[in-house]
Amino acid sequence: MDKRDMKALEGVRVLDMTHVQSGPTCTQLLGWFGADVIKVERPGVGDATRGQLRDLPGVDSLYFTMLNGNKRSITLDTKNEAGKALFKKLIEACDVMVENFAPGAIDRMGFPWEKIQEINPRMIYASVKGFGPGPYEDCKVYENVAQCTGGSASTTGFDDGPPLVTGAQIGDSGTGLHLAFGIVTALFHREKTGRGQRVTCAMQDSVLNLCRVKLRDQQRLAHGPLKEYPQYPHGEFGEATPRSGNASGGGQPGWIVKCKGWETDPNAYIYVITQAAVWPQICDVIDRPEWKTDPDYATPDARLPHLARIFEAIEAWTRTKTKFEVMDTLNPLNVPCGPILSMKELAEEPSLRATGTVVEVDHPTRGKYLTVGNPVKLSASPADVQRSPLLGEHCDEILKDVLGYGDDEVQDVWTSGALGQPNVDAAE
Ligand SMILES: CC(C)(COP(=O)(O)OP(=O)(O)OC[C@H]1O[C@@H](n2cnc3c(N)ncnc32)[C@H](O)[C@@H]1OP(=O)(O)O)[C@@H](O)C(=O)NCCC(=O)NCCS
Repeated sequence: MDKRDMKALEGVRVLDMTHVQSGPTCTQLLGWFGADVIKVERPGVGDATRGQLRDLPGVDSLYFTMLNGNKRSITLDTKNEAGKALFKKLIEACDVMVENFAPGAIDRMGFPWEKIQEINPRMIYASVKGFGPGPYEDCKVYENVAQCTGGSASTTGFDDGPPLVTGAQIGDSGTGLHLAFGIVTALFHREKTGRGQRVTCAMQDSVLNLCRVKLRDQQRLAHGPLKEYPQYPHGEFGEATPRSGNASGGGQPGWIVKCKGWETDPNAYIYVITQAAVWPQICDVIDRPEWKTDPDYATPDARLPHLARIFEAIEAWTRTKTKFEVMDTLNPLNVPCGPILSMKELAEEPSLRATGTVVEVDHPTRGKYLTVGNPVKLSASPADVQRSPLLGEHCDEILKDVLGYGDDEVQDVWTSGALGQPNVDAAE
């Protein structure tokens, strides 16, 4: 094959021990970039998400299918002696191993990092855990626990309400993204040194990294009120970064305002940012030309105590227009804004289909389903998004083309019980 046609990660083989969301997000990304991802699953059961939130009886859930594209599946019992021997061979044959089991699970299988290194010194061994070393390192963690312990929940929501979790899966998918970046960096390092290394990513750390601006605000609090927050100038600031409603996290004030139809449509809203450079244009559109020169409104600093009043005036105008009409009016004026798009609107958006960000794939038991494709576009090796595998679909194929087994050896492996029971798994 002409090397120019190669996918970016072609030739990299990933031993994918991941389950649920954080780990699978990472390995799916590596698969989109061209890595050969071998998903190892427990015989007869597989990744628990195959059966969670099922919309069709007996069919792999969308939870599973949307996180496990571009992978092959092998069943393997890591607690069976023959299974352990096979696992060792797979470690020898792979470049990267990824897992996100509860702390200590891989060690209990008999494969601590020291042993993995001994088996394959070039191995990059990547793990997601809920917490890094410290008081909580042994805890099991899911998405919302990470959002709460990483600073997201305490800074999300309105000041007079409880902490809120966000729909964006920053704990799971966010950590998976961080881990994929660590793995590719370690592969780059291996190119130069010939050695693998351990890559670890704690969900708490990843969420905190994504909440960096809120730790920025924590330190700003020591020098006075956060003037872009809705608490200013009338409310109180406590000791910690408060929840800021829909205020912008950056230096340009913004808010979500109602649009025409908001009474019945829960998404008839738009986010408008009153960027300083376009203040005169905003004043004209909302019919407040006097605010261009009024000393209480003319400069960004002067406007800070009046932000609530300003967004009320903007909303009085946006309520007369649909969110798309507001977008059509403000965009040519360079006013940054974004309609609140529903999942239905995103699923149907032609431009997202055209770029491969939303992709339809065909599945042998489910039929067609939508998935989110690779949001990272590489010009020389674009992603080819494929469906998720059935449980154990590629057992024979993997034994043959990864481990070089012949038909008789494959049969012996089945007889040993290392892969569980034939057919039962694949049909599950
Ligand atoms: C997500 C999480 C809470 C799920 O917990 P869980 O369902 O109880 O699953 P565990 O990770 O504890 O592992 C399940 C068991 O299955 C076993 N197992 C997994 N694959 C196996 C296989 N192929 N063969 C045999 N046993 C297997 C593990 O060895 C473990 O057994 P052990 O407890 O006896 O050591 C936990 O895995 C976790 O905290 N992971 C790290 C953080 C994380 O990634 N969270 C986000 C998930 S989206």
